[in-house]
Amino acid sequence: MQFQLSEDHLAVRQAARDFAQNELKAGVIERDRDMKFPTEQVKRMGELGFLGMMVDNKYNGGGMDTISYVIAMEELSKIDNSCSVLMSVNNSLVCWGLETYGTEAQKQAYLTKLATGEWIGSFCLSEPEAGSDATSQSTTAIDMGDYYLLNGTKNWITNGGSSSVHLVIAQTDAAKGSRGINALIVDTSWEGVIIGAKEDKLGIRSSDTHTIMYQDVKVPKANRIGEEGFGFKFAMQVLAGGRIGIAAQALGIAAGAYELAAAYAKERKAFGKPIIEHQAIAFKLATMATEIEAARLMVYRAAWLKDQHLDYVMASSMAKLYASEVAMRHTVEAVQIHGGYGFVKEYHVERLMRDAKITQIYEGTSEVQNIVIGREIAKGNLYLPVR
Ligand code: CAA
Repeated sequence: MQFQLSEDHLAVRQAARDFAQNELKAGVIERDRDMKFPTEQVKRMGELGFLGMMVDNKYNGGGMDTISYVIAMEELSKIDNSCSVLMSVNNSLVCWGLETYGTEAQKQAYLTKLATGEWIGSFCLSEPEAGSDATSQSTTAIDMGDYYLLNGTKNWITNGGSSSVHLVIAQTDAAKGSRGINALIVDTSWEGVIIGAKEDKLGIRSSDTHTIMYQDVKVPKANRIGEEGFGFKFAMQVLAGGRIGIAAQALGIAAGAYELAAAYAKERKAFGKPIIEHQAIAFKLATMATEIEAARLMVYRAAWLKDQHLDYVMASSMAKLYASEVAMRHTVEAVQIHGGYGFVKEYHVERLMRDAKITQIYEGTSEVQNIVIGREIAKGNLYLPVR
């Protein structure tokens, strides 16, 4: 058993920490307040290799493992979750999906640009009436011979206003249920792709979340990912990995709030001593530290299982379920420790508290994670795989 990070992992952590502190922190409050997309920061993320970390070098990626990715996600998420969700969607949903299941031509055409951040990608599954129940797709991709005719509406699309490439999940043959669904690569410059209004959200406010409409979009057959009818399995596989990224985001939110709260508790005095010397505060911090460490071990373990090519479906759902609960619970506690200062924007913890909530919702709600874990147990997977 090896709990130490390698020199390479430590270097990734330092680089991500430096970038977050030096380049994301300034302006994060204003970007959040104004819902301003972090254009400059995203450009720098591309230059520094944060947008295609796990992609093979031959497709312009960083060639790193999933552990490196979650380490970087944690550090960026301590500071700016609008940037880290973009990073998560681009890395683990779009790039990983294309690299794992795309054809060589698709990788050359799309992945090589997505891995550098020259292009940003979106993953388009959720619909006005199909969120948790992902098989109930009403977006259709009708087989027209050489191409699919795509029609429908997608909701809550991260990077929706800034992406050049959409991976769209759509129903081709409703009679076949989940086996009649396809995953299509859509270029957002094509006729019929309509970007709706940007959502005004509780948290991750500078992240670019939009409704997208497809009206008679012609998608060449060559842009289908995998065999006919593979779309639902594609989406499930991609989301299993994506949940590790969101778990790492939740971990970063919790850790960021805890670090701020611990520093504040050492400085702030009440009743003649720093508040950290009062048990009421020290016990809160002790619980935060313990549960954050447990979440970190779960996140790293899920990433490790993926790197070892072992089954990580249950581990990723468990990590996301637990880390997102820890993030929500302990950002509330961090605000409480800050007292009145916690309630104002300048101290950063209220933003982290607002950001925490979405980690219990996107890439599968906590209820969906329980469904996934419950099904694995029913299949006989009582424990996570070991070897
Ligand atoms: N890997 C491979 N195949 C899988 C799979 C996995 N992880 N999970 C399910 N499948 C397969 C099943 O084996 C089954 O295949 P067969 O037909 O061959 O037997 C098929 O997929 C259908 O599976 P289910 O019957 O389990 O499907 P279901 O409709 O009951 O789905 C669910 C269950 C787990 C709730 C699923 O619908 C789900 O995960 N929903 C949540 C969707 C989600 O996470 N949405 C988030 C939107 S994306 C987002 O948030 C991105 C962003 O921008 C931040």
